[in-house]
Amino acid sequence: MLDRRRFLQLACAFAVSHSVASRAQPLARPRFATNPFALGVASGYPRPDGMVLWTRLLGDFQPATIGVRWELANDENFRKVLSQGSIPASPDWAHSVHVEPRGLEPDRWYWYRFHAGDASSPVGRTRTAPAAAAAVSRLRFAFASCQQYEQGWYTAHRHLAADDLDLVAFLGDYIYESSWGREHVRKHEGGEPYTLEAYRARYALYKSDPDLQKSHAAFPWLVTWDDHEVDNDYAADRPEDGMPRERFLARRAAAYRAYYEHMPLPASMRPSGPDMRIYTRLDWGRLASFFVFDDRQYRAPQVCPSRPGGSTVVDPAVCTEINDPARSLLGAEQEAWLERALADSQAGWNILAQQTLMARLDRKLGEERRFWTDGWDGYPTARRRLLDFLRDNRTANPVVIGGDVHMNWVADLKSDFDDARSPVVASEFCGTSISSQGPSQKMVDALLRENPHMKYGRSDRRGYVRMSIAGARLHADLVGLETVKKPDSPLDVLARFVVEDGRPGPQAI
Ligand SMILES: [Fe+2]
Repeated sequence: MLDRRRFLQLACAFAVSHSVASRAQPLARPRFATNPFALGVASGYPRPDGMVLWTRLLGDFQPATIGVRWELANDENFRKVLSQGSIPASPDWAHSVHVEPRGLEPDRWYWYRFHAGDASSPVGRTRTAPAAAAAVSRLRFAFASCQQYEQGWYTAHRHLAADDLDLVAFLGDYIYESSWGREHVRKHEGGEPYTLEAYRARYALYKSDPDLQKSHAAFPWLVTWDDHEVDNDYAADRPEDGMPRERFLARRAAAYRAYYEHMPLPASMRPSGPDMRIYTRLDWGRLASFFVFDDRQYRAPQVCPSRPGGSTVVDPAVCTEINDPARSLLGAEQEAWLERALADSQAGWNILAQQTLMARLDRKLGEERRFWTDGWDGYPTARRRLLDFLRDNRTANPVVIGGDVHMNWVADLKSDFDDARSPVVASEFCGTSISSQGPSQKMVDALLRENPHMKYGRSDRRGYVRMSIAGARLHADLVGLETVKKPDSPLDVLARFVVEDGRPGPQAI
């Protein structure tokens, strides 16, 4: 507890040194040398009566607080402004603005924009969710993850922005802390971030991309993080490189704060030092509920590491700790929350929006087994607890969506992957990456033969997954670009699957 107390002392010192700026009167008539809205706009977390609207002012006006006006209308020309207000953008929060209008109509589209001085933001489009008890006939959404900036253009976001969707779920690795991979099309500025300033600069670089801005401006987003928003393979308070715990928690606090500053998150998720609760539930009338997980902040450390921390591939017959039932990927509190939330759910479809691949993936051909310890394969007892709960709770149409592995996988989820007769309890769709490179298709083809519950595997295309729920079925299009190395690549549908109401398991169509 000592290092936590010292951490809080440091955090207080930081807050005091900035209080003069935050008490200052906002500049009423700021003058900007460059466009202060260069990072675009975003919205998120649609509820029946409101949502979160976001922007961040960028420019050389530290440390002034700037007054920002916002407007929300039911047409893109703002003929009738329904809701408006002013909010100070303070340097304490990197001049980010999070507005939560309330009292809106359910199940409607809205348009929003911001003004500061004589500058105006681009117009964003957003919507409210249907009313809680509403019988909703259709939901369309896309999910995506993993956008290493150097490895490819964000053309997938440009296509996604042109789709007919209600919302987007982004499932982690929004930024990457490190520079890696082949054939870079552009470069990170600066080295690996450790400080708040450095994480802010990394987010500003990623969010300067016009295709990513289009995707945010087109739909409300739900977001969760994975490891690269902080550091590769970190587990709760343990980094992969052996950095002392107190220093790592200061790094995590900087990274979490910068995440909050750059995402359309509600004020209820604002971080406190190194802690930030982002797991949540979001309902779409009675048609569907999303359960958004955090698989990083509370997890047990990866087993049998070959470095001070982080992941490896292990033989479970040798690394037997992997089967310790006390190990959790979500942490006891989040697991209990999830079980309560699933037990309460009245939704016809229950979407588990989380970071990584849930189905077992044996990575060694033949009799022997090898499992990667960073994903659910490193937490097999926790996975079984969740899948057994879905079965025993009779959760309606559970569908797991994920990312992380830079490959598409479509799978049957079962309590016992060794038993061919073990019933399928849920359907899984793991998405490819927006730009981060994947492993070889040859390896994936071999793994498909080794893992019969895997119905589809594809590693050579970058893109996203589009889903619609209507007429007692969920339809999934796995879409991929020809290449992310050129900026104007066309998009193909790589595969189509359906899940029928009451029948777990994806079916190819
Ligand atoms: Fe990734």
